Amino acid sequence: MTNEKTFYITTPIYYPSGKLHLGSSYTTIACDVLARYKRLMGFDTFYLTGLDEHGMKIQRKAEEAGLTPKEYLDPMANDVKKLWKILDISYDKFIRTTDAYHEAAVQKIFEQLLAQDDIYLGKYAGWYSVSDEEFFTETQLKVVFKDEAGNVTGGIAPSDHEVEWVEEESYFFRMGKYADWLLDYYETHPDFIQPEIRKNEMINNFIKPGLEDLAVSRTTFTWGIPVKSNPKHVVYVWLDALFNYITALGYGSDDDSLFQKFWPGINMVGKEIVRFHTIYWPIMLHALGLEPPRQVFGHGWMLMKDGKMSKSKGNVVYPEMLVGKYGLDAVRYYLMREISFGQDGIFTPEDFVARINYDLANDLGNLLNRTIAMVNQYQGGHVRKVSANLLHSDWLATAATYHAAMDKFQFNSALGAVWNFIARTNKFIDEKAPWLLAKDDTKADELNGVLYHLMENLRLSATLLQPFIHTTSEKIFAQLGLDETSFAIDGVAFGYTFKNAVAIKGEPIFPRLDMKEEVAYIKEQMAAGSEKEAKAVAIAVLKKEIVFDDFDKVDLRVAEVLSAKKVEGSDKLLIFTVDAGEGKPRTILSGIAKGYPEPEKLVGEKLQIVANLAPRKMMKKYVSEGMILSAEFDGALKVLTADKNLPNGASIG
Ligand code: MSP
Repeated sequence: MTNEKTFYITTPIYYPSGKLHLGSSYTTIACDVLARYKRLMGFDTFYLTGLDEHGMKIQRKAEEAGLTPKEYLDPMANDVKKLWKILDISYDKFIRTTDAYHEAAVQKIFEQLLAQDDIYLGKYAGWYSVSDEEFFTETQLKVVFKDEAGNVTGGIAPSDHEVEWVEEESYFFRMGKYADWLLDYYETHPDFIQPEIRKNEMINNFIKPGLEDLAVSRTTFTWGIPVKSNPKHVVYVWLDALFNYITALGYGSDDDSLFQKFWPGINMVGKEIVRFHTIYWPIMLHALGLEPPRQVFGHGWMLMKDGKMSKSKGNVVYPEMLVGKYGLDAVRYYLMREISFGQDGIFTPEDFVARINYDLANDLGNLLNRTIAMVNQYQGGHVRKVSANLLHSDWLATAATYHAAMDKFQFNSALGAVWNFIARTNKFIDEKAPWLLAKDDTKADELNGVLYHLMENLRLSATLLQPFIHTTSEKIFAQLGLDETSFAIDGVAFGYTFKNAVAIKGEPIFPRLDMKEEVAYIKEQMAAGSEKEAKAVAIAVLKKEIVFDDFDKVDLRVAEVLSAKKVEGSDKLLIFTVDAGEGKPRTILSGIAKGYPEPEKLVGEKLQIVANLAPRKMMKKYVSEGMILSAEFDGALKVLTADKNLPNGASIG
């Protein structure tokens, strides 16, 4: 049984399919802020994060790197843990879906759902996006490609990723059976999906049009949890992944005391995966007789001026770089302050530097410096407690706004409330002009009162800031001469007795930065970081050593381009006919469109192709008979040409 004073918060489990960037760190920091807040409010708190390690996407990534999935994943997992250390993430558990206890629990769950006929065996035929690990109906696709006869030949998912046609035996979960229950659950639990707008999306786009049964197993690849009673199937990666939130607490294993204590918890997720968490997840839990999560909060994305971060755009920001140069608290503060949680936000180096300069160095840093300087100068570092709080109503309003905002995950408003209080306190200095009081001996008590208020307001502010920037709070406590390194937020109030002398003026907590210089630095690092990452990827794809016989199996030939065109509707694909000296031309599809805005210019070029690659059906309508060799240059793929004098079909080796 849960009691009121427990709190369970989870991040999505990330796909370790590349180095995590500032965007993926964003949720983890937000959850960390919440976990720290709840702990300081006296809640027994459990914070879970981890990695989603199965599925086709990971299998392909590992294959590309010439590694087994496990060889690929272990260093990735270490890197992610290192990053969370750098960002000071206070998670209680890090789950990997390849952990044995999780795999065993998922197998058990699957068998139970099968036994109670919530899962049945059928055949899946439809569209699949590997990047999203998601099935789509034709109507859900953003773009549908059709041939002249009107047959659908392919399409693009709402995420802009291309879909593949999949036809295979599959287990299905009877989602449709629970649609009414789900709508009723939404109705009776109005806070279940937050922000509200995401709930309407779910109802109107997915449930009302008819909730289809979900394919929950795959047979065409192996990297997943085998279905115990039919191991040629692996469990669909999303079913596997969603259950992490309870297997991590011991559900499905011998000791489920953490599950008993902490479930249901809050699932914090990005907006594009709200659907999995608010439709499939509660239904599967309900089918097992378990409670849905207490709440699913779908936050927005952290974007760049030119859209999503991507290596090819050279706009990727890695948190390590910012933390290394500006310190962790600047980064945590910026992310939580600048973006209204729930909505999309845009990272700009200018805003980042401005937040450091104005909020941290100026408002907070200066208040601290001025206070310490005056307390030292006028009263030898001591203040005596006064009981009447002249700014009582300001403090009450601050605390009330702060807590209300924290309860709604409105981190920017919570910080805004603290900054209003800091601004009010700065204004209080100007109103009271302690430098004038200090000149008049009869005003000594008044002066002490003013300085005490400044000290207290700094302590109160730093207390409320602990979940966000606890290192800075600790520095402030130290400069205020306090022995405590942390204060409970629950019940914190005006009226502390400062026993110790105030420390001699400490280092400024945030130095002022030169806007121009730092913006240039960050931009440079963004470009360089993206390049370095691109190179790291290139090195990572150095495949395992092979023997000559392995190489000899590949039949490489010279082939002349007879025609080259864009595949209609596809941003990536070009369709070639080539003459490989065989008397009849071959068709080859190649994902190199980006590097060739005018593909017809390739006609007459001699290329190098893999001639004995098994033909592959692509986009339903085409069969690609081979592969054109290409290499990445400047973010795009370029073909490897051959000498013009070489005859078509000449063997390369
Ligand atoms: N593995 C699934 C989640 C399974 S949870 C049972 C997945 N992984 S992911 O790595 O692709 O994304 C994980 C989370 O990171 C998502 O919530 C996604 O929204 C978030 N973000 C990735 N890039 C982001 C930004 N640029 N900004 C904010 N969040 C970002 O989906």
